[in-house]
Amino acid sequence: MAVLILISPKRTFVLPLLLLTAASFLTVPKTATALSTKYYDKTCPSLQSVVRSAMARAVATDPRAGASVLRLFFHDCFVNGCDASVLLDDTSTTSTTGGEKSAGPNANSLRGYEIIDAVKAAVEASCPATVSCADALALAARDAVALLGGPSWTVRLGRADARPGAGQAAANANLPGPGSSLASMVAAFAAKGLSPRDVTALSGAHTVGRARCATFRARVNGGDGNVNATFAAQLARSCPGGGGADGALAAMDAETPDAFDNGYFRALVQRRGLLHSDQELFNGGSQDALVRKYAANGALFFSDFAKAMVRMGNLAPAAGTPLEVRINCRKPN
Ligand code: HEM
Ligand SMILES: *[C@@H]1O[C@H](CO)[C@@H](O)[C@H](O)[C@H]1NC(C)=O
Repeated sequence: MAVLILISPKRTFVLPLLLLTAASFLTVPKTATALSTKYYDKTCPSLQSVVRSAMARAVATDPRAGASVLRLFFHDCFVNGCDASVLLDDTSTTSTTGGEKSAGPNANSLRGYEIIDAVKAAVEASCPATVSCADALALAARDAVALLGGPSWTVRLGRADARPGAGQAAANANLPGPGSSLASMVAAFAAKGLSPRDVTALSGAHTVGRARCATFRARVNGGDGNVNATFAAQLARSCPGGGGADGALAAMDAETPDAFDNGYFRALVQRRGLLHSDQELFNGGSQDALVRKYAANGALFFSDFAKAMVRMGNLAPAAGTPLEVRINCRKPN
């Protein structure tokens, strides 16, 4: 049996198709104008608890797992919508253009793929061939934030998985880099229908996780004006200006690296943002006032972050994208 989902404009799903023979199959057309909180209520009632348990195990083993999964979701949704395209392994078929995993912002950087493998395996054990990798990732990211002490939100479900992914060039074009200006981040988010306020709230994800020296070397070695000198000197010891140590890690929120809190914004006010792009949010521009508000009011940050995550999670693949419910998140069925 093959489970296929076709998408046409406005998320009109045809699902599932029961493939009877190679030539003839029965279709059960279903019109879904939007994602739904009840999507798997009948087909996989245990879904939420299965994902939550798998994520709790991962975060208990390594708190950074939560951060890595949260970033995976961002890098999925910003490249042709939340369709688990980022999870596809590169194959010989895609090697001419390259898969998303080998794109600049992802190669040697994005991690947590095996955590999603474990989440999906647990889901498959309860509900075989039912739940998309894109939905599993959306739930896993939500649970990661809550498990690290952050807010929670209701995830609407019914996403499907791309086959194949959008490719390396699309990932390079859509994902902002650590050297980005505020204007370029605002533009990249606006291209997804997200506001400048969403840029700042979602960047608060950097309250957890780690970054490699290669992404902040210039900032801590004299390349940036708006940096706390004590902070820069400290980091430069393990991330020297001369090169090397590309992989040396630093916490993105030095005070509370594994707690999802508003520490990131307090750090920005002290000019202790790790990435150039982080400090751009507090550098005399349009987001300074909001950064100060989030630094003073953790509840406001949590509320805005949750709302922005819902908006980001609703980004849908372009009409005509071939979709399915993938069994193994690393390869099309
Ligand atoms: C606004 C523009 C953004 C830029 C320029 C940016 C850039 C980066 C960079 C350069 C790293 C470190 C990568 C490395 O060390 O190889 C990173 C890590 C991270 N990013 Fe972002 N990011 C942005 C937005 C976001 C958003 C919207 C989220 C999630 C909602 C997010 C979540 C994370 C997390 C959790 C980490 C740490 C991952 C880990 O420890 O494995 N980022 N980001
Ligand atoms: C630099 O960081 C220290 C904490 O290490 C802080 O006390 C100080 O206010 C910061 N300096 C500036 C200019 O924000």
